[in-house]
Amino acid sequence: MKKDRIVCGLDVGTTKICMMIARTHRDGGLELISTGYADSAGLHKGVVIDLDAAASSIRRAADEAEMKSELSVDWVIVGATGDHFQSFNSRGAIAIEGNRHEVTAEAMAQVIAAAQSVPISPDREVIHVLPQEFVLDDRGGIKNPVGLFGSQLDVNIHVVTCQSTLNQNLINAVNRAQMRVKKVVAQPLASAQAVLTRDEKDLGTAIIDIGGGTTDIAVFLGDAVHFTKVLPVGGAHFTRDLAIGLQTPLEDSERIKKEAGTVLTERIAAEEFVLVPGMGTRAARNVPRKVICGILRDRAVEILELVADQLRKGITSDSLIAGVVVTGGGSMLDGMVELSEEILGMPVRQGLPLGLRGLTEELSHPVYSTAVGLALFGAEEAGVLRKKPGKAGSTPWLFNRILSWAGN
Ligand SMILES: Nc1ncnc2c1ncn2[C@@H]1O[C@H](COP(=O)(O)OP(=O)(O)OP(=O)(O)O)[C@@H](O)[C@H]1O
Ligand SMILES: [Mg+2]
Repeated sequence: MKKDRIVCGLDVGTTKICMMIARTHRDGGLELISTGYADSAGLHKGVVIDLDAAASSIRRAADEAEMKSELSVDWVIVGATGDHFQSFNSRGAIAIEGNRHEVTAEAMAQVIAAAQSVPISPDREVIHVLPQEFVLDDRGGIKNPVGLFGSQLDVNIHVVTCQSTLNQNLINAVNRAQMRVKKVVAQPLASAQAVLTRDEKDLGTAIIDIGGGTTDIAVFLGDAVHFTKVLPVGGAHFTRDLAIGLQTPLEDSERIKKEAGTVLTERIAAEEFVLVPGMGTRAARNVPRKVICGILRDRAVEILELVADQLRKGITSDSLIAGVVVTGGGSMLDGMVELSEEILGMPVRQGLPLGLRGLTEELSHPVYSTAVGLALFGAEEAGVLRKKPGKAGSTPWLFNRILSWAGN
């Protein structure tokens, strides 16, 4: 089996680590070979806070995936998150020289570099530079200007940056787990890759990945990224709220949330009760389900209002023609889709990962959206490598992105 046909996505989530090993096919498809799963340790709100603990949970997930596939993983596409991620849009312009005024690949790279020449703080690094559209002599909506004639080329780009030290901590954790990092991908973009349809990305959609420690937002319009944001709140906050409000151990509040939880409190009958274990040696007691779910609803409303605030800042709501897609484990809480529609004032659907052959029913679940998306990112890169033999190792990532994007 040729090595460059194997891709590996590694989702380092706050609550779980998931590795997906997949094989690219000649027809452009991607097939799952094996998965590995481990509970996370050493992570808080998406960032590594204990290197050894994080590395050993990453290694556990990798061991499982490697054992099932009988492959050894050298490098991974890793998903990163945390509220240290920031993003901005920028525009650049260059004159197209030469007597024919033809846009070359070099000119395209130059105009993107010009758009990127915005000073960023020295403690931050650029993770993604994503072209939105090129404008050639005031004619917009161009995805690939190479070969076209014109006098002035402009580009609008979306740039995602993160704090260098926190990014390095994640890379170190993966290295300590005996793997190299080929590329770091912002988790909201990875989830979007697996969950959004082409039409949704084109017409205007926000993806909201409600994870364990973070809620990641990405907005797509015109088949391009216009806004990304990571909020440091997620499913673990629901669990903690229940543990505190009901005075019950975290393990029990997690179970109660999943088994009896809903944010649609108006649908709960007054006579519904849930047996809630006590903390330590305290006895269990029956608590009205309405009370339990009221706690969950309050937290859900708070998170969704934060999301609505961000969407108002990032875009005009009427640009989200295709509405909102929620994914991540937090979107599994009963009623989240309905409550999101109410608070965001837009149509909302739940997003399951797609685009990877061999995904079982168990893996077609919102908690796996990021891992599937990371494998898809890897395949996109591998596809470009096949098209450009001999240049694989040296082709800069940005250029890869442009080529694969232009070839869509
Ligand atoms: N059926 C369910 N009902 C309610 N919550 C659920 C359900 N299933 C999973 N969750 C919650 O989803 C969260 C985990 O989601 P996910 O696996 O997407 O997070 P993560 O990727 O580990 O974290 P992050 O992306 O924030 O770093 C947990 O808080 C878990 O309690
Ligand atoms: Mg996640």
